[in-house]
Amino acid sequence: MGKLPILLLSIALVLTEAGPRFDCYPEPNGATQQACEARGCVWSQDNSGKNAPWCYFKDGVGYNLDSQSGSTYNLRKNNGPGNPWGGDFTEIKLTTKTIGNVLNVKVGVDGRYEPPVDFPRSSIPSSDSLTLETSSGNDFFSFGVVRQSSNRKLFDTSIGGLIFSDKFIQIATYLPSENMYGWGENTHQSLRHDFTKYLTWAMLARDQPPNSGSLDTMNLYGVHPYYIVVEPDGKAHGVLIVNSNAQEVTTAPGPSLIYRTIGGNLDMYFFPGPSPEEVTRQYLAFVGKPFLPAYWALGYQLSRYGYKGLAEMKTRIQAVRDAGIPIDIGVADIDYMQRYKDFTTGDDWSGFSDYMKDMHSWGMKLILIFDPAIEATYPSFQRAISANAKFIEWENKDQVQQDIQNLYPMAKDTKIMLGVVWPDNHVAFPDFLDSTNNTQNWWIQEFVNYQSQVPFDGIWIDMNEPSNFGTNQNHPWYFDSDDHPNDAPLFCPTNGSSAWEMPPYKTHAVWRFGDASSSAFLASNTLCMVGLQDAGNQRFYNVKNIYGLTESVHTQKALFKSTGKRGAVVSRSTFPSSGRYAGHWLGDNTARWEDLRTSVIGAQEFNLFGIPYVGSDVCGFIGTTNEELCLRWQQMGAFHSFFRNHNTIGAPAQDPAIWPSVAAATKQANLFRYQYLPYLFSLHFLASMNGGTVIRPVFFEFPTDEETFDLGYEFLWGSQILVAPVVYQGATSVDVYLPTDRWYSLFDWQYGSIVPPGYATVSAPTTSRIPVFVRGMSIIPRQTPSTTTTATRLNPFELLIAPCEMGRGKGSLYWDDGETIVNDFDSHDYHQFDFKYNTTDSGATLAITHSRKSSKISLPTLDIIEIFNYPKPPNFRSFTINGQPVNINVQKSTYSGITKTLYISTPGLIDLTYADSIALRWNNAGSAPGADGAKLKALESNRYDFEA
Ligand SMILES: *[C@@H]1O[C@H](CO)[C@@H](O)[C@H](O)[C@H]1NC(C)=O
Ligand SMILES: *[C@@H]1O[C@H](CO)[C@@H](O)[C@H](O)[C@H]1NC(C)=O
Ligand SMILES: *[C@@H]1O[C@H](CO)[C@@H](O)[C@H](O)[C@H]1NC(C)=O
Repeated sequence: MGKLPILLLSIALVLTEAGPRFDCYPEPNGATQQACEARGCVWSQDNSGKNAPWCYFKDGVGYNLDSQSGSTYNLRKNNGPGNPWGGDFTEIKLTTKTIGNVLNVKVGVDGRYEPPVDFPRSSIPSSDSLTLETSSGNDFFSFGVVRQSSNRKLFDTSIGGLIFSDKFIQIATYLPSENMYGWGENTHQSLRHDFTKYLTWAMLARDQPPNSGSLDTMNLYGVHPYYIVVEPDGKAHGVLIVNSNAQEVTTAPGPSLIYRTIGGNLDMYFFPGPSPEEVTRQYLAFVGKPFLPAYWALGYQLSRYGYKGLAEMKTRIQAVRDAGIPIDIGVADIDYMQRYKDFTTGDDWSGFSDYMKDMHSWGMKLILIFDPAIEATYPSFQRAISANAKFIEWENKDQVQQDIQNLYPMAKDTKIMLGVVWPDNHVAFPDFLDSTNNTQNWWIQEFVNYQSQVPFDGIWIDMNEPSNFGTNQNHPWYFDSDDHPNDAPLFCPTNGSSAWEMPPYKTHAVWRFGDASSSAFLASNTLCMVGLQDAGNQRFYNVKNIYGLTESVHTQKALFKSTGKRGAVVSRSTFPSSGRYAGHWLGDNTARWEDLRTSVIGAQEFNLFGIPYVGSDVCGFIGTTNEELCLRWQQMGAFHSFFRNHNTIGAPAQDPAIWPSVAAATKQANLFRYQYLPYLFSLHFLASMNGGTVIRPVFFEFPTDEETFDLGYEFLWGSQILVAPVVYQGATSVDVYLPTDRWYSLFDWQYGSIVPPGYATVSAPTTSRIPVFVRGMSIIPRQTPSTTTTATRLNPFELLIAPCEMGRGKGSLYWDDGETIVNDFDSHDYHQFDFKYNTTDSGATLAITHSRKSSKISLPTLDIIEIFNYPKPPNFRSFTINGQPVNINVQKSTYSGITKTLYISTPGLIDLTYADSIALRWNNAGSAPGADGAKLKALESNRYDFEA
């Protein structure tokens, strides 16, 4: 008897640990025991705090192996439960193949929809490989993906739950660890996913501002069915599911995940790593490597929505310039247009092109916003119709809302699906999948025409989920606004038989916003799912999530053709491979500390997704920011590739010149950024050429150090610089974790000195730079900063050498003209320099190899070399370059025995093109400081901190 309670307890434990539960009643309002059991599912309350569904599938859902032929497994629905959302396919197939060391496992049915995305599908070598294992235990077929070197199962569907019906598809797996990163686009409050409870993340491109105030699993602007897992031994793998339908993923205790989609097939690609950065490189070889932004695009950008006219934009940009804050880019939101119509200029913006000439003469650039939707009234639309360009259409004429169509003579007899966005009248949405190319050619030509009037340099594409206002709403919000209050909203056929608008399983992308009675539909905020593209070959239901991607592809072409330069495109909606064409900003955030924090995580995630030109709206978009928040956001944003202060209409101005403290902090942060841009640019160059991240989570470099697994608020620039921003109100210090290695402070606090690894609280007052550290074994290329990148690029180069414990360092510099379009890197004109440094007791050597040469691109000289932890005073008279003596300017050069920093500064010290191999050598002066006339003085910690 005494043993019984223990036995019961262990049974209870087994029951709660079993799982996961596959949700059988995800719809809002309605799961009752009766409704659940009517679906043939199990009802069992769960109060464990794990948020487990109370209505879940019975065991044994799945398929059996019918036959196998080579790498094709023919599967047949087993006798287990069916699903409530449509008839299960009786026969499906699993096929497998390898692309290099990438394993592809495809589950589905031939002839079903596949996303029309032009992935390169290349592979790069890996030291590891993956194999497929299959099993027929548990009354159903399952498969595992096994890492060869460790025999670990990375994917394991023996958990059950495989379902394949026309519009409800589900696959589930156990995971080898809880260290999972990625999936998107969602607002993640931690970098690492949380497997302590069931969480379902919706994925459907939606015009939806992030909510950082609390845990919220709703879907935002883009879709990324991709994740990375770090396994218990520190090896990492990635998984991509090529599927563009409305979809979702549930992370669940186990750890396990359940993926569901409502169309297409399960076309899965497994990337073996084994390091996280290798996973990213393999992923990007497959989906496409990121574009290289123009050099100026790494400069600081000032934007806002709600400029009353050009005069106000001029005033704010001038205020920032007058404050001595480095700035490269002015950005105009939809205000510049005439009543929000693309390719037009508003009345309050006359003189825009003259102002552009002024900006260009200051070395500045202009980025303009364009929305995809084209008003059905004006010359751009007229030209589209004449050019036989296509727009998203209704399937047949009797679906057309004639009351809307009849208002527009040019659209009257067409099936064009007209919606409502910012312009006064109804709008049409260009069909970027048009295989005749008429649409794309017209789109490109509109940019060419407009650029000849207003010479913009970069393009910002917004609203491309695509967003549509008021779909299916009797009283949309704009009825109560001054702009177009009378435009009839788009209504999608949600009653009757529309399988496209009302699929049996609507996904959490709908349910998160309510149910049908609260007008939550797949079409909410967008066009009708029944819509067609590419002459009826593509259904909007399937291709909606790639609208932003397809617009990006052709907008990048438009930028190239209209400017003749590579510039930069940024897009709100993204999909795997978007990074080839565009960057991304993290959307319409709110001016809150929570949003500053999630943006630090979001930028790391988009680097995983292959979109490294990413950042947030600095100081916050929605709402009123405040001095401290804006200051801290400027300081953090200075370390994001896309660095733009942006603000919404009606909110008080928030450019850094508004507050003296913010102006000073921004100037300081921007000067640091501009000084280190050669390194940031080299990282982008490498990511573009070879694939990879620019901003990197800390665990990428330290995957066996579990302390790094959830450091969401720290991040790396490449492998060599670690940034720990201030993200909490009132904080004047930061709790930093430095993984085991050599680190040096690169900020005001103990600049240049060694910081021991581990946890530390470091000083970070608002008047100081935020904590930045450089890793030992580094050589970082820099440049003396100026107030634009244009001017900075003419200044001398510098090297920062941060040696490892053995007194060595290495690094590289990639340098091109900053604006030529990169067709391919083999023929692209650029310089590459590789640096190596070593030191012994008697002296040191810096070796420079000119690994790739350009005859056309001239280079500033290398004038400054700063070396941390230099052991003893050098003999400044002993310097030689390739054996020839060289004079060091001893007035400007210093060695501090206290900080052990050697600072060598001599105008024209090294002409980098002087020889293919350059060796700068010198001897040390022996132990007596000053013996050789070397001028010793304490190094100022902060050479470019010009502020008072
Ligand atoms: C459309 O453009 C693509 C990409 O440039 C090209 O490959 C294709 O042949 C073009 N199609 C037509 C019908 O011209
Ligand atoms: C279906 O919806 C349309 C538009 O939303 C409406 O006009 C029509 O009356 C509805 N039909 C039925 C049978 O409810
Ligand atoms: C230091 O670097 C130079 C140039 O690369 C090389 O010739 C020399 O052997 C190196 N010395 C040590 C101790 O590694």
